[in-house]
Amino acid sequence: MVLFATTNAEKVREAQAYLGPSVEHLDYDYIELQSESLSEIATHGANEAFHAAGGDRPVITDDSGIFIDDLGGFPGPYSSYVYHTIGLSGILTLLKKFDSPRAYFRTSIAYCSNEQIVVFEGSIKGTIVDPRGNEGFGYDPIFEYNGKTLAEMDILEKNAISHRGRALAKLASWLENDPVEHRGVK
Ligand code: IMP
Repeated sequence: MVLFATTNAEKVREAQAYLGPSVEHLDYDYIELQSESLSEIATHGANEAFHAAGGDRPVITDDSGIFIDDLGGFPGPYSSYVYHTIGLSGILTLLKKFDSPRAYFRTSIAYCSNEQIVVFEGSIKGTIVDPRGNEGFGYDPIFEYNGKTLAEMDILEKNAISHRGRALAKLASWLENDPVEHRGVK
């Protein structure tokens, strides 16, 4: 059993689609560290949430960001703030003069238990396009990979190629290979 500390139920749905029901949602809003490193933010949050939840069950956190090449990596670790301020339309306005702007999405998942804190990273390269699709959340409608936006993929399709899916794959294989930490997580 692993607690996923996040206020974003969509992230939990993706983790459960990958790791199964042994991932439980801990609806906990940890203080987000001001940092340019997604791993540092995730690690700090996992440590805080682990103790807040009593310190007897492993906790994971996920910090993600979209990095747009033509904007020097903006918004990166500020993706959430930018999403809630200028939104997808604001991003598209900033990118008007660029042709097929390239971007990548990155996720850091931090796992915190009594024994250790371990970070798993995943990324995906794509292109920013006008919004398409109704699945997913956040920047999914404007992030295209192999001709489809992430919002045009179902959860399993997205997990198979996404930044989060890649980080979850590393977490899953680590959990499977660690006899101490393997507590019913598949
Ligand atoms: P955070 O990890 O919750 O800080 O995410 C930063 C921003 O990226 C938020 O606006 C999220 O909605 C967005 N985001 C995180 N993961 C994804 C994803 O898998 N697809 C699209 N947007 C995402």
